[in-house]
Amino acid sequence: MALFSGEGFLFLLRWLHFLAGITWIGLLYYFNFVQTPFFATADAPVRTGMIAGSLVGRALWWFRWGAMVTFITGWLYILHMMFHGYGGVREFFASAYGWKIFFGGMLGSVMWANVWFVIWPAQKVVIESATKVSKGGQAIPEAAARGQRSGFASRTNTLLSIPMLFFMGSASHLSMADPTGRGVKIGALILLAIVIAAAEVNALKGTTGPGKKMLATLNGTFWGGFILTAIMYFVLAGLMR
Ligand code: HEM
Repeated sequence: MALFSGEGFLFLLRWLHFLAGITWIGLLYYFNFVQTPFFATADAPVRTGMIAGSLVGRALWWFRWGAMVTFITGWLYILHMMFHGYGGVREFFASAYGWKIFFGGMLGSVMWANVWFVIWPAQKVVIESATKVSKGGQAIPEAAARGQRSGFASRTNTLLSIPMLFFMGSASHLSMADPTGRGVKIGALILLAIVIAAAEVNALKGTTGPGKKMLATLNGTFWGGFILTAIMYFVLAGLMR
């Protein structure tokens, strides 16, 4: 039976990967498309009740562990393809598949880092503060700023999810020419580094400016994500030509 073979194991890894992936990204979209707009208009006691009453905490548990399982299974898959499928790092990066999945995987990994090192630590403070308020105490002074920073990181993840899924899905299902030389690979690396640096600087520094304005609305975030996908695809496909 094919399921009990090397191919079957790889398929199970892939299956676990997108089960965890939809859990993570589904909750990311719930936070951005449903909860944040709802909180923006809800009365303070309702908001505090939902945060302190563990609704948000439960959602964040599935969210961050979904991200962790997606990240681990995704990199296990990449390592397998690199060393068993292609037979080495050099061979892997001599293929368009390698670059497309590397682009998708790196964008996903930045999103994973935003979850574990920005959003979750900030949300712990927000939850602690709301819990104190619900018991008649004072809010933690830094909670509002931490919540705002976590919001920027979360919107950044929503934006990045658009090109991330494009490259992930296109790795095996949308053909592209293999890279032909060193210059092409350096160009691809520079493109990826610029995108990641710009997204992270915008998420982690400051509170105003055009980048924040884009993230302030879902429309701006969608446009940003689709335009970024188009830029990344056409530059990468142009390089690989
Ligand atoms: C966190 C970093 C991530 C890494 C390193 C990663 C890596 C991978 C790899 C190596 C594959 C196999 C590609 C192939 O051979 O076609 C894959 C497929 C896939 N990944 Fe990810 N992934 C990540 C995040 C995500 C996320 C967040 C989702 C969201 C749902 C996701 C959804 C998928 C789907 C649906 C496929 C199957 C695509 C297909 O069959 O064409 N991945 N991923």
